[in-house]
Amino acid sequence: MSQTAFRTHHATEVTEALVGQKVTLAGWVDRRRDHGGVAFIDLRDNTGLVQIVIYDEEVARPLRSEFVIQVTGEVRLRPEGNENDHLATGRIEVVVEDLKVLAKADALPFQVSTALENESENKLPGEDVRLKYRYLDLRRPSMQRNLKLRSDMTRAARHALEEMDFTEVETPTFIKSTPEGARDFVVPARLVPGSWYALPQSPQLLKQLLMVSGVERYYQLARCYRDEDFRADRQPEFTQLDMEMAFVDQEDVMAMAEKVIAAIWKAAGYEVQLPLPRISWQDAMDKYGSDKPDLRFGNPLVDLTEYFRNTPFRVFQAPYVGAVVYSGAADLPRRQFDAWQDWARQRGAKGLAYVQFEADGTLKGPVAKNLSEEERNGLMEATGAKPGDAVFFAAGHKESSQLLLGAVRVEIADRQGLLKPDDFAFTWVVDFPLFKPTDDPDDDDVAVGHSKWTSMHHPFTMPSADWIDRFDKDPEHAMSDSYDIVCNGEEMGGGSVRIHRDDIQDRVLNVLGIDPEEAKEKFGFLLDAFKFGAPPHAGIALGWDRTVSILAGADSIRDVIAFPKAGGGRDPLTGAPAPISDEQRAETGVDYDPEEDEQH
Ligand code: AMO
Ligand code: AMP
Repeated sequence: MSQTAFRTHHATEVTEALVGQKVTLAGWVDRRRDHGGVAFIDLRDNTGLVQIVIYDEEVARPLRSEFVIQVTGEVRLRPEGNENDHLATGRIEVVVEDLKVLAKADALPFQVSTALENESENKLPGEDVRLKYRYLDLRRPSMQRNLKLRSDMTRAARHALEEMDFTEVETPTFIKSTPEGARDFVVPARLVPGSWYALPQSPQLLKQLLMVSGVERYYQLARCYRDEDFRADRQPEFTQLDMEMAFVDQEDVMAMAEKVIAAIWKAAGYEVQLPLPRISWQDAMDKYGSDKPDLRFGNPLVDLTEYFRNTPFRVFQAPYVGAVVYSGAADLPRRQFDAWQDWARQRGAKGLAYVQFEADGTLKGPVAKNLSEEERNGLMEATGAKPGDAVFFAAGHKESSQLLLGAVRVEIADRQGLLKPDDFAFTWVVDFPLFKPTDDPDDDDVAVGHSKWTSMHHPFTMPSADWIDRFDKDPEHAMSDSYDIVCNGEEMGGGSVRIHRDDIQDRVLNVLGIDPEEAKEKFGFLLDAFKFGAPPHAGIALGWDRTVSILAGADSIRDVIAFPKAGGGRDPLTGAPAPISDEQRAETGVDYDPEEDEQH
């Protein structure tokens, strides 16, 4: 399999079974060590390392890190005491008879050697340097592993979907805007001056058209483009494993997606127990202060609104008071609790009140004195805290207080070492509201229409059955048939049952403040299609970069993307985005001004 013009074997294929045989290997100089006239070189290829031994100083002298070499030599057992049990090839070495330098390497901007990576990732330079020299960064075994894992996962997903009779269909990336809640990236159309294509925020409308087309089961690894603010788990261009099915309900889609997820995890050697647990959006917010709860650990929020109903403490005289227990933290120094206050303020909170229960149960902390005696006495029981624990409180607007406590809960778990990357806690989040207020300060989505309400998911999401007749009369409480799949506190994917009736779609657009004229202009093609026999349909999309990063245990989705963008959407490798020449401006028509055109 490995044999090519340049090699007989890959590095890790050189095993004890080959002792006495001649092999030809090709790869990079990972590291060299010199021992009195003998050079030991770790030769690296994408399978791993093998040690080669060079007795000829003339041959060894020019070799530097990351030179590309081809060597031929005999495989032998390493002398006793020189074995390396950490290496697959640690019992053998190859004694070089012939060596060719296939390419030299300049002094490196940073070390990529495997040994170094194993010692500590901290020796890596800043991410901008890694991205500028991404081809070097990708030589590191952990990055090679991520790329391979991604490929294995893609294969497993494709296989699972093909087994379930899905058809892979490619959809265009020069389209009309799709309203997913972000800004569009646009491309000027040279042949129609003044007109622009939008890059798809997802294939949402196109996959719905495929349902009208009779495809019934569609999937695609689709590239999506969203002009959003930069975050660790977001990229301006990213990939979705996008799926849509006709003649199905929510349960059918969830069962299908679970099979896909189990197959993907299985490809990495993990068994996922099906069916996956479910939690309603409201419970997720109430118990975990998050619409993507991390269920690798417990420690739910405690609602103390009732408990503090008649409190003398001004701060707790609020529409909502909640708490999170920080177990074993009663004795942390004062300055750590002060740091938590800053942490909370950075997130826009007014503060983060706390109390400590000493080992004998005595209550201390700056807030304790503000509480009534009755409140103090019952607090341990009401919060579920034990002696030696601390408790954090948030008071105020319900949702933002819950979100703060949700973040506190995760931060505590992180400090307690409970966020294990190879522990996978999945949950479906179901029973989402259909709409959310446009002015939500915690939300940076772009509203689709011009009303007080915007879609929680997107404008094509079906109201749940008991709201179909009245969602527009009570948008605040209307519920939808949509679902998110969450793993380890990250939104891995989301989907919904779609509206396939133009009358319901019209009413939803009306709530969003999109008038018929505008709707026709924006997605009239979809509304038209619904007039020609649209089957009931539903679907889901997994954020593929996020899915891979969760399974890879990566800190950022950038670590599972070969050539990701840095902050601000920059690509330090190619220098994109970059100014274009005047000729290009003229040619593409980016400066086209319709008014000027009319005057001529
Ligand atoms: P949604 O907008 O929830 O749904 O996107 C689906 C999933 O895509 C991932 N994701 C991202 N990943 C990286 N960078 C980004 N900027 C980014 N934005 C989203 C998330 C998210 O869960 N058309 C619908 C799906 C459907 O209804 O079928 C959609 O796009 O993991
Ligand atoms: P104060 O009486 O304003 O000094 O607040 C007393 C404590 O309550 C401090 O620890 C503040 O950080 C905290 N605090 C203030 N506002 C809130 C709030 N909305 N929720 C939780 N804690 C708060």
